[in-house]
Order: sequence, then C-alpha cells, then structure tokens
Amino acid sequence: MYGSDFEDPETVGQPGASALLDEVESAERDLHEAAARTVATGGSTGPGADAALQDYFDAVIAADQKIEPRDWMPGAYRKGLIRQIAQHAHSEIIGMQPEGNWITRAPSLKRKAILLAKVQDEAGHGLYLYAAAETLGSSRDELVELLITGRQKYSSIFNYPTLNWADVGAIGWLVDGAAIVNQVPLCRCSYGPYARAMIRICKEESFHQRQGFEILYTLARGTAAQRQMAQDAVDRWWYPSLAMFGPPDSDSTHSEQSMAWKIKRFSNDDLRQRFVDMCAQQASVLGLSIPDPDLRWNEERGAWDYRQPDYAELFRVIKGDGPCNRQRLRHRRQAHEDGAWVRDAGSAYAAKQAARRAGKRATEQVAAA
Ligand SMILES: [Fe+2]
Ligand SMILES: [Fe+2]
Repeated sequence: MYGSDFEDPETVGQPGASALLDEVESAERDLHEAAARTVATGGSTGPGADAALQDYFDAVIAADQKIEPRDWMPGAYRKGLIRQIAQHAHSEIIGMQPEGNWITRAPSLKRKAILLAKVQDEAGHGLYLYAAAETLGSSRDELVELLITGRQKYSSIFNYPTLNWADVGAIGWLVDGAAIVNQVPLCRCSYGPYARAMIRICKEESFHQRQGFEILYTLARGTAAQRQMAQDAVDRWWYPSLAMFGPPDSDSTHSEQSMAWKIKRFSNDDLRQRFVDMCAQQASVLGLSIPDPDLRWNEERGAWDYRQPDYAELFRVIKGDGPCNRQRLRHRRQAHEDGAWVRDAGSAYAAKQAARRAGKRATEQVAAA
C-alpha cells in the first residue's frame, strides 16, 4: 500500500454502518419537527412559580421537545450535562494526539491529507462541544483549566499508544466506530445545543470510521507483513474500545437519572452489544479476526456473545495509570502554554477594537449635540 492508491470505499461493504447514518438523519428530521411544535407552559410567574417551572421542564421532556439555554432546568440536570459535555469535549481534543503522531509518517500524500482532515475535524468537535457547554454557563477557559490540571477526565482510550500505521486504521474503525454507536442516540438528547452538535459530529465520525475501515481493508489485502500489522493493531485496540462504553450497567453510577432526563437513551451494556454485533460482521468483510475466543452468534438472543473487557484495567486507566496518561496531559498543558501569546494577542486586538468603537461613538455624540 505504501505510496499506492486505495480501493473505492463505496465498493467495500460495511454491514451496519449505513443504518447508523440513517438514524442520524431521522434524529435531525425529528429535531426540526420538534422545533415547530410548542408545549403549553402553564405560566411561570406568581405564587407556585417554581412548581410551574418544574412542570414545564417535565412537560418538555415528556413531549420529546428540547430544553434550550434560556429555559429553566433543575440544577442537577445542568451540572450533569456540563460534566458530560466537558468530558466529551476534552476527549475530542486529547484524541487528536495519538493520531496526530502519525501525520508526518502517513505512507502517502493522500493518506496524509485524509489524516490531517480527520484530526482537524476532532478539533472542530471539541470546539462545538465547548460552545455547547458555554450555553450552560461554564466558560471554555474554566473547562480547559479543569482538564489540564487533571480535575476533569477524558476518554481513557486515548491513553493507549499508537505503535504503527495500522493503529490509525484500528482507531478509525474501532474507536470512532464505538464513538458513533455511543453518540448516535445523543442526537436525540433532551438538551437542544448538545443534540444539534451531535448531529454534525456523528456525520463526521461516520467518515472517520469508514477511513479507518478502509485503511485496515487495504492492509489486510497487502503483504503478509501488512496483514499481520493490521491484525496486531485490532488485537491491541479491541478491548480498550469495548471499555469505551463504560462500566457494566450494574456498576454505572450516572445512568438512571440520565435516562429519565432523556440525556442518555440506552444503557452501557446495550450500546456495547450493538457495537460488538456491528464489528463482528464487519471483521469478516475485512478478513481480520476479533481477539475474543468467546465470540459467537447466539441464535436465541439474535446477537453475538462476547467476553467482557477487563474493567479493573479500565478503572486503573481512568484513575491516571494508563500507558500514556501523563504524556497526554503534559503535551496538552505545554500546547496551552505555548498558545498563550495567541490568546493574549486576540484579547489585545478585541480591546483595541472596542476602544476604537467607543471613541467613534463619543465623537458622533459630540457632533450630534
Ligand atoms: Fe470526534
Ligand atoms: Fe472521530
């Protein structure tokens, strides 16, 4: 594959992938329809106003409408959303590092251009999400500070190293694949700005997943060494990707309330199953195997049986003991410090423009008097 071109991805069958995109499209249609309907408010002033606000909030959620930034919302709803959206934004930004590591070493100019575009998309996802969190009253500065001081988390998957080029394929196929399965239901999340950001993000993630699949597909049909490299990458990324769906339902702390508020729509285990089912079919198209000796089709359940990831390892990595935790945060902190002059220059320019506008207004007032 080095230096050569690749097959047209349209000709490569990818079972299950288009169904996810169809879901994004239908969530987008529902979003537009919901915006055209209204929910009776029942009044929000006078005695009993607090109860009326809560009633309105509950009615909006029950009617599958969206809560918007200016609407009243319970404190815990706001706080939970900020935590979730911030963690999601941080993951997009930190997630640029393992792949950014391969931009200069991509095997052809075309591969380099694609990877560059993909990593840039992730920066964009981070920005949409920080902007969504800002609508809830948390500034981007504040959230970045929480990330670089290690007080807020990002997805543990990015604490694993990218050892060779096939890892870029495995990340696209498995990590972006798991991200889409997780995020498609968030296109129907009850908080408007988050749902709208997720629709755009999922469309882009779908491209990411296909580019990863296509890298592996090409390698799997290359030399024996290339094929081995692809299999080795899938072997290393499979279980960390399964762990991306979080702890099993029995140990998940935030799920129940989040489901009642229609932020989360499916449990961790349901989403993990959906991911396994999708990958099991796609792996056979790739001609690569999934490193799970228990993986087999269960006729009765109509789903694939699989072996659970090592959750003890997941918690170790979440707590900061993954192979690259320190390196990722150190790099992010350094990039933030190195970029201080850009932020300073931007603020100085904005202040100068504001002063100029104020001066112009004053002159106009004097002339008008
Ligand atoms: Fe992303
Ligand atoms: Fe992505």
